[in-house]
Amino acid sequence: MDKEKIVAMREYLTANTWMNADFSRSDQGQKVEMPPVQKAVREDQELIVLPEVNPEVIQTSSFFDLVTNRKSRRKFTDQALTMEELSFLLWTTQGVRKQAGKHVFRVVPSGGNRHTFETYLAVNRVESLANGIYRYLPLEHAIVLETEFSDEEELKEKMRAAANIYTFFADAAVGFMWTTVPYRMEWRYMECTAKMIAIDAGHVCQNLYLAAEAIGCGTCAMGAYNQTKADELLKVDGKDEFVVYMAPVGKV
Ligand SMILES: Cc1cc2nc3c(=O)[nH]c(=O)nc-3n(C[C@H](O)[C@H](O)[C@H](O)COP(=O)(O)O)c2cc1C
Repeated sequence: MDKEKIVAMREYLTANTWMNADFSRSDQGQKVEMPPVQKAVREDQELIVLPEVNPEVIQTSSFFDLVTNRKSRRKFTDQALTMEELSFLLWTTQGVRKQAGKHVFRVVPSGGNRHTFETYLAVNRVESLANGIYRYLPLEHAIVLETEFSDEEELKEKMRAAANIYTFFADAAVGFMWTTVPYRMEWRYMECTAKMIAIDAGHVCQNLYLAAEAIGCGTCAMGAYNQTKADELLKVDGKDEFVVYMAPVGKV
């Protein structure tokens, strides 16, 4: 165990970097244009517009019950999710709540409202969706297909590889995989970025826990995934965009 390194890493969790930073040096301070809030869609990609968020998918609306019953769930039934349920889960985790010019506010908080995450879905069982990797577009409340897997076993195999030893990820109806595009935060917060992104991720996944619980589903936060395999599955470069968190969702 490299104790010095471990202790040095603690600094990343303190606010000292914040107090010592000169934000006038940031790209924002230097008047560089704000980066886009979501990744562009390729010309060959068609938008699959999600059903409007419908609170009727909620089975348990007691906040007290949701918080009390929430737990990490690693066993799922073979039941598929409906598009309405998927719409609800995406909206509760990254949905847009308000737009004011170029400022986009979502249902989850984010340090400086920077929102660096992209939500990818590894779809095994969602009614009317082919198996494959999809990406959520919060601005349009739509998804786009990134990679189709005609062989469902091949996708499950890749999900298992991405999930390290947590093979239950591949049993899910849908695997949520969040990447970060760190520059969206670095543009303002420079070296303070890593802490902010890590904290932001917790808010997103906690909403997934509660939203899943509310619709008769379950999830389990996953921080100990295989970085290389997860990035490969989503075809992200591992540098300017990389996976930071994963969570399977299925009926329980
Ligand atoms: C940041 C974070 C990372 C986690 N990573 C994993 C993981 O990689 N694999 C796993 O099976 N569970 C993981 N979990 C779930 C925890 O093991 C679980 O929350 C903990 O055991 C408490 O159980 P509970 O969620 O049912 O209360 C993670 C939870 C958090 C918050």
